[in-house]
Amino acid sequence: LMQRTLVLLKPDAVQRRLMGQLIARFEAKGLNIVAMKMLKVTPEMAKKHYAEHVEKPFYPSLESFITSAPIVAMAIDGLDVIKVVRDMLGATSGLNAAAGTIRGDFSSSRQMNLVHASDGAEAAKRELKIYFDDSEFCRYEPVL
Ligand code: CMP
Repeated sequence: LMQRTLVLLKPDAVQRRLMGQLIARFEAKGLNIVAMKMLKVTPEMAKKHYAEHVEKPFYPSLESFITSAPIVAMAIDGLDVIKVVRDMLGATSGLNAAAGTIRGDFSSSRQMNLVHASDGAEAAKRELKIYFDDSEFCRYEPVL
C-alpha cells in the first residue's frame, strides 16, 4: 500500500549534528522524501502534535524539549512506509530499542529519542497538516 508519513528529526538530532546520517538511512532504504523543512516548533504546535499526551505528567518536559531547538520535518512516501519507518526508528526509549534501529544505535533516552514518526494512517494525515500545506509536497518520479 502506497502511504505517506511524517518524520521529525527532533532537537537532539539537530544539536548532535546527526541530520545527515539520519536522512541517509531513509534514502538508503529506498523511501522517497517529498517535503522537508527546518523549523522551530512553537508551544501551540507542540500541543496539537502531542494532543494525546497534553494531560500526561511528562508533557511539560516533552514540550520544553521539542521547542528547545530547531527540528527537521519530512514527509516520506513509500510502500507501507508508516510501518517501515516505525520499524527503522525502534522502540520509543533508546534503552529498549534494538541495535540496528536509529534509536538503538544513537539514543539511550526515552525523551531525547532523536526521531518521531506517525504511528498510523490517521495520525499521519493529522500530523502532516501541522507541518505542511498540500502545496509543499513535491511530485516527482524517482529514477530507481
Ligand atoms: P514520540 O514517539 O515522538 O511521541 C511521544 C513522545 O513522548 C515520545 O516520542 C517520547 O519522546 C515522549 N514520551 C513518551 N513517554 C514518555 C515518558 N514516560 N516520559 C517522557 N517522555 C515520554
